[in-house]
Amino acid sequence: MLNGQFTGEEGLRSPMQQNTARRPYNHCRYAGNIGDVWKHILLIDALRTLSSESPKSFHYVETHAGPGYARLGENGDWRRGIGRFMDGTAELLDHYYFNLVLPAMNANFLYKGSWVLAAEFLRNVGHPNFKLTVHEVNADTLKMAGSAIRKGQLSQWVTLEPKSGYDALQKVEKADLVLVDPPYRSSDGTADDWDKVMNALARVKSMARHWMVWYPLFRRQEPDALIAMSGGASFELSWAEDAPGWVMKGCGLLMDPASAKILQQRSGWLASLAERLGGRFDLRSSAAAKTEPSQNIGSAHHGSTGDNCYAQFLSNPVHLL
Ligand SMILES: C[S@@+](CC[C@H](N)C(=O)[O-])C[C@H]1O[C@@H](n2cnc3c(N)ncnc32)[C@H](O)[C@@H]1O
Repeated sequence: MLNGQFTGEEGLRSPMQQNTARRPYNHCRYAGNIGDVWKHILLIDALRTLSSESPKSFHYVETHAGPGYARLGENGDWRRGIGRFMDGTAELLDHYYFNLVLPAMNANFLYKGSWVLAAEFLRNVGHPNFKLTVHEVNADTLKMAGSAIRKGQLSQWVTLEPKSGYDALQKVEKADLVLVDPPYRSSDGTADDWDKVMNALARVKSMARHWMVWYPLFRRQEPDALIAMSGGASFELSWAEDAPGWVMKGCGLLMDPASAKILQQRSGWLASLAERLGGRFDLRSSAAAKTEPSQNIGSAHHGSTGDNCYAQFLSNPVHLL
């Protein structure tokens, strides 16, 4: 079905262009969307360096696992995300993420989730001693995640914990990298995760060498407060900055300073990726967020000019960590 037939450019109105902040979370509807592509590419890039820096052992923890694989529906948000890379254009496709993702998309219309990508990446690069601990609370999603582990033959590396990732963080003693990736919506659509993420981050900073927090961008207040308290930097992708109300305007992956420094080296490439995804890349640092919390601050704009942006970024120390 996928091979060339759905390209993401066929004019369907995406749920991400509608008011989505109050809608219950449904992972399969969103899997493979712009935010997933952004998050998963940054994750693989960070893992490459961080895991090689810890050859003796590497422990990756996810607070919010999801199903591991999601079957994509005809009108899902994937069309504006991973679907943009299915038109045969080779540019950017040499990133290892696409090696991991595209075969299952083409063969079975399945999009791999973060921890499956992380496990397969670490296995494929031959890391000698890694493990993953991932948490999930939804009963149906747990079944799917269990099946993903069995079918992907990942059980020697992946432990799936049927419990809240927030609670579990209190008990995990040490991790090399933690990804906090909540839905920012309760199952009935009435609550969000921002306060819990703030608390989780305080804990994560004391037990993890490196950490990442994904967030959606509906309005600036919540991300700005999170970035300011984090001490880290966020790689933001925005695609609808001027949209009114509760429209998702972008997303960000906030991370510890050391991880951010590693990914800064990819700024030019990330700017091209952002452009291909129909958005704009900004780097936001906690130092800048603390001084001017409600402005469009701390941002190094990495627009559409690739290496040029990279040079601009490197020469602008206010955005460096
Ligand atoms: C955004 S999805 C995760 C996506 C996944 N990390 C990825 O990138 O492929 C969020 C998941 O968190 C689960 N969830 C919600 N509350 C949770 C909690 N307190 N602890 C663990 N998982 C939770 C939801 O059921 C959903 O499957």
